[in-house]
Amino acid sequence: MTAYETVQSELRANPKTWLVTGVAGFIGSNLLEHLLKLNQAVTGIDNFSTGWRKNLDEVHSLVSAEQWARFRFIEGDVREMSSCSTACEGADYVLHQAALGSVPRSIADPIASNDSNVNGTLNMLVAARDNRIKRFVYASSSSVYGDHPALPKLEENIGSQLSPYAVTKYACELYAAQFARHYGLQCMGLRYFNVFGPRQDPEGPYAAVIPKWIAAMHKGEPVSINGSGETSRDFCFVENVVQMNLLAATCNNAAAVNQVYNVAVNARTSLNQLFEMLRLRLASTYAHLNDYVPVYREFRAGDVMHSQADIGKAERRLQYAPTYSIERGLDATLDWYVNSQLMAP
Ligand SMILES: NC(=O)c1ccc[n+]([C@@H]2O[C@H](COP(=O)([O-])OP(=O)(O)OC[C@H]3O[C@@H](n4cnc5c(N)ncnc54)[C@H](O)[C@@H]3O)[C@@H](O)[C@H]2O)c1
Repeated sequence: MTAYETVQSELRANPKTWLVTGVAGFIGSNLLEHLLKLNQAVTGIDNFSTGWRKNLDEVHSLVSAEQWARFRFIEGDVREMSSCSTACEGADYVLHQAALGSVPRSIADPIASNDSNVNGTLNMLVAARDNRIKRFVYASSSSVYGDHPALPKLEENIGSQLSPYAVTKYACELYAAQFARHYGLQCMGLRYFNVFGPRQDPEGPYAAVIPKWIAAMHKGEPVSINGSGETSRDFCFVENVVQMNLLAATCNNAAAVNQVYNVAVNARTSLNQLFEMLRLRLASTYAHLNDYVPVYREFRAGDVMHSQADIGKAERRLQYAPTYSIERGLDATLDWYVNSQLMAP
């Protein structure tokens, strides 16, 4: 039995109460689905700034009535202290996902990113401390590595951040360390690399590359690649992220607590390779993709050229063992998009 299987069977036998912030978003709703399927009690908070009620409705349709009854939703904002306190009441663990994602969004509006990401996280840390939360697990980001040239990325080697978004995520790590030091709040920072999977939003100017390209390929619209296409990323299927959240929240290894961890698979895929992986998978259904080529444009400000995680720390201290490669994750993701309204004829 893997560590993750053990954790899941222990949670089934002895259910806990979880708070998921950003629960109507992509990663938050996947955490919700997984926790409810394990018969956990879950409180969720979201202000629907980038998340959707339809994500919650979909989770509703995927769990039993009994499991759904264990979910308490608060429409609220982590920028408001009172909402954070109410949300934390009775929770054992916090999985803090609420934030405004996207590097370009943060360059366009750094104050909004700071408000939700830094002030919101500080509010959540105070609320978690005051409500004696057992462990505070929060979403950080690979963007924290900034311009540090080493590959793969090791948790202790970070450079200068390249965007306001990266600064907000680094600030969260610095604050979490202070709450561990001064108040004994157990904090676990998860530096997500490029996460993808069901319910990731394909729309809007700040959409992530995988859902955006799937939507464009489906509609026969041009797919744009920023730069030469040799930019590479460690794409991580959302189930691996769910695994890390559960391991980080529940692990009993004292040396593993109050740390930050990379969350990825330790693979490197260029944007040109990703384009081909998606095109080939979709071409069997959509004939127009047989001779489809991307449009190349300028490299985007604030982006890093290459990103690949060393996941050894998570493997050693948390027994993390990703169950989804990029290929398996893309198959599952495409199944979801093809079956969802997005891909309806
Ligand atoms: N998706 C990725 O590749 C990736 C990579 C690195 C880090 N992250 C981090 O993971 C977390 C989840 O990202 P996601 O991809 O699911 O994005 P998402 O936009 O789908 O989810 C974020 C959720 O937080 C909510 N939210 C934002 N500000 C809020 C506020 N002030 N109060 C309450 N709710 C608020 C949004 O409405 C949304 O539902 C974020 O912290 C993000 O920075 C994501």
